[in-house]
Amino acid sequence: MPSNLPSSEPAAPMRDAQFVRVAETQREPLSFFIDGREVFALQGDTLLTAVLMQQRRVRESEFSGAPRAGFCLIGACQDCWMRTEAGMRLRACSTLVTEGMRVVTRLADVASAADVASDVASVATVASAAAATTTNGDTQ
Ligand code: FES
Repeated sequence: MPSNLPSSEPAAPMRDAQFVRVAETQREPLSFFIDGREVFALQGDTLLTAVLMQQRRVRESEFSGAPRAGFCLIGACQDCWMRTEAGMRLRACSTLVTEGMRVVTRLADVASAADVASDVASVATVASAAAATTTNGDTQ
């Protein structure tokens, strides 16, 4: 098995990956699914690492549609949220990938889109309220 575990699609070029594995290549492999496509990772990989070993993004923004790939890698920036096919949100940089995990990169591919739309509206409301709060805690 190659050290950087390419996708199961033979046509997927290696250069499409954002990350390249350079160490710890002997951990046990596992398979999981990104947008219905079976891919491989190693036990102990975060979901972020596992996904970016396959491609250059973890999701498309719910708001702009822009590709997102995480930023801080330590659970602080909120840039790496992904969803399971069932709609559960996962912070990719602080969630370990598991055997058979099924994640999607586009909100439209979530099974319970109505629940997710409600969730997105809640996030937008919280973000709007946070933006209206000044640094000393007063609201504008
Ligand atoms: S990459 Fe920043 S919270 Fe996950």
